[in-house]
Amino acid sequence: MVNRDTVALDDPVGASLRGHHTHLARRLGRAATYLPGVATFAAISADPGPREWADLAQLLGRGELADLFSCPATPPSDWEPVFALDGRQMLWSGTDLPGHPEAGAESGVVELGADDVPEMLDLVARAQPGPFRPRTHELGTYLGIRDRGTLVAMAGERLRPPGWTEISAVCTAAEARGQGHASRLIGLLIARILARGDRPFLHVAEANTGAVALYEHLGFETRTSVAFRGFRIP
Ligand SMILES: CC(C)(COP(=O)(O)OP(=O)(O)OC[C@H]1O[C@@H](n2cnc3c(N)ncnc32)[C@H](O)[C@@H]1OP(=O)(O)O)[C@@H](O)C(=O)NCCC(=O)NCCS
Repeated sequence: MVNRDTVALDDPVGASLRGHHTHLARRLGRAATYLPGVATFAAISADPGPREWADLAQLLGRGELADLFSCPATPPSDWEPVFALDGRQMLWSGTDLPGHPEAGAESGVVELGADDVPEMLDLVARAQPGPFRPRTHELGTYLGIRDRGTLVAMAGERLRPPGWTEISAVCTAAEARGQGHASRLIGLLIARILARGDRPFLHVAEANTGAVALYEHLGFETRTSVAFRGFRIP
């Protein structure tokens, strides 16, 4: 199914922070994280030693959350587990673009920016697609659909390991579901991602069976299981 190098997808946060998102990164030694307000995700090597954990602790601060995203490394024993969530990483391997984004398909779709952040945060709070912060939109292009002026659906680009772009923050307000909004936005993002030579991928919680079904329906296939984990730094 996957005919292209997928190594960068094993550490999508670190590969993004070292590459496309270096301007949004804070780093100490081999530890890295995003600027406050952009994302909580932190990166550390797959097999870190005490020095690296100490660097990450210093970078993030005592008592702060170390959001390791899908990194499988085990922190020191006094780092208290805060959350652990089973998920999967999926790659788009479709041939037909979802939502039939032909010419004019972007009509009614708006590109979202800093001015739209309060509405994006409000939609995220209601639809709960996953973590989204006031500056998350700076990670890539975020698209939205409005109904009589109100933002009812959005989706955007998040992690950018070399050769890949992650689709994220896919959500539709409860009252606007089942009208093809998510499919349309995902289709437009896939078209943009392919046009610049990248391939689309995404992450989804295992328990979100509806979203998994939707993504499979749209041409995504599961590459691997992941566990999203966060720890409190002592
Ligand atoms: C998942 C979600 C974004 C779907 O939005 P939507 O705008 O209703 O999706 P669409 O209308 O484009 O649906 C596309 C297709 O998927 C199917 N689908 C949508 N939701 C589904 C579900 N929960 N279970 C099974 N199939 C589903 C639709 O039937 C449709 O199929 P069709 O094209 O054959 O008719 C929306 O339910 C949502 O916001 N959920 C909460 C946030 C979330 O979980 N986001 C994903 C985070 S990874």
